[in-house]
Amino acid sequence: MSLIDIESVTKTFSGASEEVTPLENLSMRIEEGEFVALMGPSGSGKTTLLNLMAGIDRPTRGSVRIAGEEVSALSARALAKWRTRSIGFVFQGYNLIPVLTAYENVEIPLLLLDLPRADRRRKILVALEAVGLSDRAHHLPRQMSGGQQQRVAIARAIVADPKVVLADEPTGNLDRTAATGTLKLLRRLNDEFGKTLVMVTHDPAAAEFSKRVVHLDKGRIVDTPPLPGAHPHA
Ligand SMILES: Nc1ncnc2c1ncn2[C@@H]1O[C@H](COP(=O)(O)OP(=O)(O)OP(=O)(O)O)[C@@H](O)[C@H]1O
Ligand SMILES: [Mg+2]
Repeated sequence: MSLIDIESVTKTFSGASEEVTPLENLSMRIEEGEFVALMGPSGSGKTTLLNLMAGIDRPTRGSVRIAGEEVSALSARALAKWRTRSIGFVFQGYNLIPVLTAYENVEIPLLLLDLPRADRRRKILVALEAVGLSDRAHHLPRQMSGGQQQRVAIARAIVADPKVVLADEPTGNLDRTAATGTLKLLRRLNDEFGKTLVMVTHDPAAAEFSKRVVHLDKGRIVDTPPLPGAHPHA
């Protein structure tokens, strides 16, 4: 069984005037431990696909199974807990809460789980340490660089120890140096922590940090075979 199993998925958005179907009869499998870069032109359905994997949106037809769980069959309440435990999501714009410190931002997903405060604290400190921000725990987002804010967002994505990390253009707002730092960190989550990663990117240099590139074009997949584990940046 694949960790991520997308079968014959169609997604149609019905707007006021017209229907848009970014994904049509799309199937794709991702195994545990993969690091997949999802590429494709603007509007090709990359974010739509990532949102389906995260249970943020539901397919119009077809099935999305993560670790055997049919995501679209979960109730809203079950979905929120499932997502916290199973999926970490990294957004292009970081999506940090400006009035909360790094520590408090990373704590947010844990508040959905019934964990004692001491357990939360331990997990938060481990996550901040993993992204190299132990010394910034009590800084607000505006007191940090873009690269540091993105690392807080990554800490938030991994704090509940999910199997899967989904990242939508995680380096889109960063300069080359900060982008490289973020990509190395994502690769380390894959290599050292065994996370399965799916990263949307426009940037071929970013895709090089992955182990397999999947091209999405007009809702169709143009897949390439997995690259060998060895990697120039590793
Ligand atoms: N909630 C929505 N309602 C209506 N249409 C939508 C919605 N979300 C996405 N779409 C449409 O679906 C298509 C695919 O959008 P999507 O955001 O998945 O593209 P993308 O590949 O992520 O593009 P980009 O690289 O610009 O982020 C677009 O035509 C978009 O307008
Ligand atoms: Mg997008």
